[in-house]
Amino acid sequence: MIVTLTPNPALDITYAVPTVTLGESHRVGSVTERAGGKGLNVAAVLATMLASTSNRTSTPTTTTPTETGTSPGAGVVAVAPVGALDRDLFAADLDARRVPHRLIESPCPTRRSVAVVESDGRATLLNEAGVGQSRRVWQLVTDEVERLAGSARVLTVSGSLPPGTDPDLVLRLTELAHAHDLLVVLDVSGEALARALPAHPDLVKPNRSEAAGVLHALAGTTDPAPAATATLPTAEEAAYALVGAGARAAVVSDGAAGLVLVHGELALRARLPRPLTGNPTGAGDALTAALAAGLDQAGQLPDGAAPWEALLRAGVAWSAAAVLQPVAGALDPADADRLAPDVEIEEIRS
Ligand SMILES: Nc1ncnc2c1ncn2[C@@H]1O[C@H](COP(=O)(O)OP(=O)(O)OP(=O)(O)O)[C@@H](O)[C@H]1O
Ligand SMILES: [Mg+2]
Repeated sequence: MIVTLTPNPALDITYAVPTVTLGESHRVGSVTERAGGKGLNVAAVLATMLASTSNRTSTPTTTTPTETGTSPGAGVVAVAPVGALDRDLFAADLDARRVPHRLIESPCPTRRSVAVVESDGRATLLNEAGVGQSRRVWQLVTDEVERLAGSARVLTVSGSLPPGTDPDLVLRLTELAHAHDLLVVLDVSGEALARALPAHPDLVKPNRSEAAGVLHALAGTTDPAPAATATLPTAEEAAYALVGAGARAAVVSDGAAGLVLVHGELALRARLPRPLTGNPTGAGDALTAALAAGLDQAGQLPDGAAPWEALLRAGVAWSAAAVLQPVAGALDPADADRLAPDVEIEEIRS
C-alpha cells in the first residue's frame, strides 16, 4: 500500500467566464469545486490505475486494489490536514473519485486555489499560500501516517508546506517512515527537501526549477526566482547533486523534455520523442504515482538498468497521459498503455 501525504491541500475552485477584463466585475458562468493538492493528485492517479482491470503493459504494479488499502502492495490512501468546514466537501469529492482517504480535521481553513477560465481556455490562477497548522495538527497527521505504516510499503510526501511550518517536518516524516521500513518518495522543494536529504529519502522527484531551488538551499544561497530556464542546472546536474546530498535516487523531471534518473552509477534519460499538447499541471504528480507504484510492487528501489528502464517507461507514460486530461489528478489508463512503447530511454555516460 502507498500512503500519500499532502501537507498543504487546497480547495480548487474553477470559475468559467467568457473573458476576463482586468478592473471590471464579472458574472461567473459555472463554478466547480474539487479537493486539490499534489498528494491527493498522486492518490487519485494511483486509484485510477489500480482500479483499471485491463491488462496494461505500462503499469509497474500487478497488485489488486482494495478500497481500504490495508495490505502491502494493495491500494493507496491519501492523508491530509483539512479545515473542519471543508472536510465534508473533501471527503465527498474523494469518495466520488474512489480515492481512499484519512482526512485530519484542522481548525485552520483550507486554502483556496482559484482558476478563472475563459471561453478560449486561457486560465488565470490565484493560489493562496495556506495557513500554518498547529503542532497538535501535525502530531495528528504524523500519528495517522504511523498508524498506516504497518500496512504500507511506500510513503509519498508532495507539494508545499503551509507558511510557518517546521522546516524539519519532511525530515522527521522520512525518519519515521524509515523506522517502519517504508520506502520514501519526496516531491517537495526548497528548504524542506534540502533538510530531508541527510535522512536519505529513497527517491526524490522535483522538477528542474524546484531542484535548482533545493541546490540553492543546500548552498545557503538565495534562489534568484523566477530563474530563466537557460540559467538552471540541467536535469542531469541537478539529479547528481541531489544524490550527492543524500537522496538514494533522484528523478528530476523537465516537462516535455522528460526526466533524468540518477541512482548510484546509473544515469538514464527518458522522454517521449514528441511533446504532447495539453494541461501539464499534475503531470509530475502522475510521475510520482508511477514511481511509487513501482516501489510498492518491488518493495525496493530498482536494482540495475533494466528494472529502472521499465519504471521510467511507466513514469513517462503515466505523466504524459496526465497531460491529455483537463484536470490534475486524472489520466486514462488506455493513454498510458498507448504511450508506453513510444518512450525513449538512453543511458547517460559521463
Ligand atoms: N508536454 C508534455 N508532453 C509529454 N510529456 C510531458 C509534457 N509535460 C510533462 N510531461 C511529462 O510529465 C513529467 C512531469 O512534468 P513536469 O516536469 O512538468 O512536472 P511538474 O512540474 O512536477 O508538474 P506538477 O507539479 O504540476 O505535477 C515529465 O517528466 C514528462 O514525462
Ligand atoms: Mg511537481
